[in-house]
Amino acid sequence: MTYGKGVKKTTVQTFIAKKAKGEKITVLTAYDYFIAGLLDQAGIDSILVGDSASNVIHGHANTLPVTMDTMVTHTAAVARGSQRALIIADMPFLSFQPSLEVAVANAGRFLKEGQAEAVKIEGGLEMVSTIRRVIECGIPVMGHIGLTPQSIHRFGGPKVQGKKEKSRAYLQESALALQEVGCFSMVLELLDADVAAQITDSLDTAATIGIGAGPHCDGQVLVINDMLGLREEGFKPKFLREYANLAPIISDAIKRYIDDVKSGAFPGPDESYTRTNKT
Ligand code: KIV
Repeated sequence: MTYGKGVKKTTVQTFIAKKAKGEKITVLTAYDYFIAGLLDQAGIDSILVGDSASNVIHGHANTLPVTMDTMVTHTAAVARGSQRALIIADMPFLSFQPSLEVAVANAGRFLKEGQAEAVKIEGGLEMVSTIRRVIECGIPVMGHIGLTPQSIHRFGGPKVQGKKEKSRAYLQESALALQEVGCFSMVLELLDADVAAQITDSLDTAATIGIGAGPHCDGQVLVINDMLGLREEGFKPKFLREYANLAPIISDAIKRYIDDVKSGAFPGPDESYTRTNKT
C-alpha cells in the first residue's frame, strides 16, 4: 500500500507476503513519539507498543499493572511518530480475558483512539475464541505464545517453554489454532529453538516473531530499552543482544550538565539573549 508522498505502508499483508518469500520481519517495541520516528525512518517493519511499558517505562516489576488508558496513550504517541511501520498495540492484563465484549471494546479502543493497526493478545488454545471474535470485528490480531508474561505467576518465573512433550504439543496446537482463526502473526517468546523452528515450518500464513526463540522464526522482536542498554544493571537474558549501551552516555551528559550549572559554565554567552548577541 502506498500513502501520500510515496510512503510504502507496512500492513498485515506485508507480514504474510514476507513469510511466503522467506524475508525476515523486523519488529521493535516503542512507547513514545520520538523513538517511533527513529524506528520508522530506520526502516523497521513494525512497532509493537508492548505492555513491557509497564516495566521499562513505568518501573513496575512485571507487566500486570499497566492499564488500558496508559497503553492507549503510548499507542497514540507512537502512531503520531510513525508513517510507515505497522503499529501493533499490546492488550494489557485483564483487558481481554473477562469476556468477548470486553475484548472487542478494548481492542477497538486501540484502533479508534490509539490509531493502532493491529493488537497483540497473549495466550494459546484458551484464548482462541476471544481472538476469533476480535478478528471477526475487523481487528487484526498478533498472537503470543510460549512464555506469556501476563501469566508470570503461573509459570513461576521466566522459564524456557517447550522442553517437555506436553508443553511442545500445547504450543504446536495453539500455533495452528491461532493461524486457523486468522492471526496474521504470533510472538514466540522464550521457546526452545527447535520447537520454534517446527512451529514456524508448520504455519503457512501466520508469521512467527521470536524473542528468545532462536534464529528460525520468520522475524524477531526485542524491547527497545533492552537493546539500547536502557535497563537496570544486571538484566541480561541470554537471548538479548545489546546494540548500544546508552545508560552510561546519558549519565555522563547529566553529570556534565550538573557540573556546568554548578560552576557557572552553563549557560555561556552564546546560550544567553543579550543586547550584544541578537540571535
Ligand atoms: O510487551 C512486550 O514488549 C512484548 C514483547 C516482548 C514481545 O510482548
